[in-house]
Amino acid sequence: MISQTSPELSAQHLDADAPSRYTRTAMALHWIIAVLILCNVALGLSADWLPDDWVRPVIDTHKSIGITVLGLALLRILWRIRHRPPALPLSFPRWERGAAHAAHILLYVLMIGLPLSGWLHDSAWKDAATHPMHLFNLVPWPRIGYIMHLDPVLKETLHDRFGALHVWLGYGLYALLALHIGGALKHQWIDRHSVLKRMVP
Ligand code: HEM
Ligand code: HEM
Repeated sequence: MISQTSPELSAQHLDADAPSRYTRTAMALHWIIAVLILCNVALGLSADWLPDDWVRPVIDTHKSIGITVLGLALLRILWRIRHRPPALPLSFPRWERGAAHAAHILLYVLMIGLPLSGWLHDSAWKDAATHPMHLFNLVPWPRIGYIMHLDPVLKETLHDRFGALHVWLGYGLYALLALHIGGALKHQWIDRHSVLKRMVP
């Protein structure tokens, strides 16, 4: 008799070691980074309409949170390399699994690209030397020396370019998060096949 089971399904069925949930560390890193990024978007966007004497402390906190995200995202990538995540259910259409996978890769790119572009933008700021950076007002944090010591005219141009890159990466983040959160909620409420429970302790 010809088997009705697809090679893909049998492969997953036979792989008894395949994880069905994310590790606790992956969950902790996911939710801490998610909360910090959402706070940082709120702080970054609010800078334009806050009273003048609020802007400096708000932006300093934004920078500190951003550098923290950079460190946590690097840790998360190292963890991810060593720990295989659970495969998406094979009952999901192939395009949906592909889209989720692509969105995850791009989210990793943004977790690094957003803080890095912010740090480059800030390092090219003409007043960087007279306003040293301290993480959460406590730990001194360097600017990128190579950028800081460029010719002032070039630095001003780079300040604008990196600033624009930072804003555009922000737009990319909003679009990806809409897909990412929308996808998770679709599986939860419409497909009734939760992936959320794989990411909550
Ligand atoms: C999680 C990482 C980060 C996220 C999600 C983020 C996001 C944002 C967003 C959404 C804005 C507002 C852009 C707009 O007006 O449309 C912004 C502005 C800004 N960000 Fe970030 N950022 C991050 C990290 C950083 C870092 C690490 C630095 C510097 C070390 C930085 C420096 C700035 C500065 C100077 C502004 C301009 C504020 C203003 O004057 O309007 N950001 N950021
Ligand atoms: C800034 C916010 C967020 C970022 C950067 C982010 C990023 C990511 C990334 C990169 C993954 C893939 C992990 C991997 O396989 O290595 C992931 C998985 C996941 N995220 Fe998020 N996420 C964010 C917010 C959220 C929110 C608000 C929700 C809730 C609706 C959510 C729900 C999930 C779920 C359920 C998974 C697991 C999907 C699966 O089982 O394959 N995420 N997230």
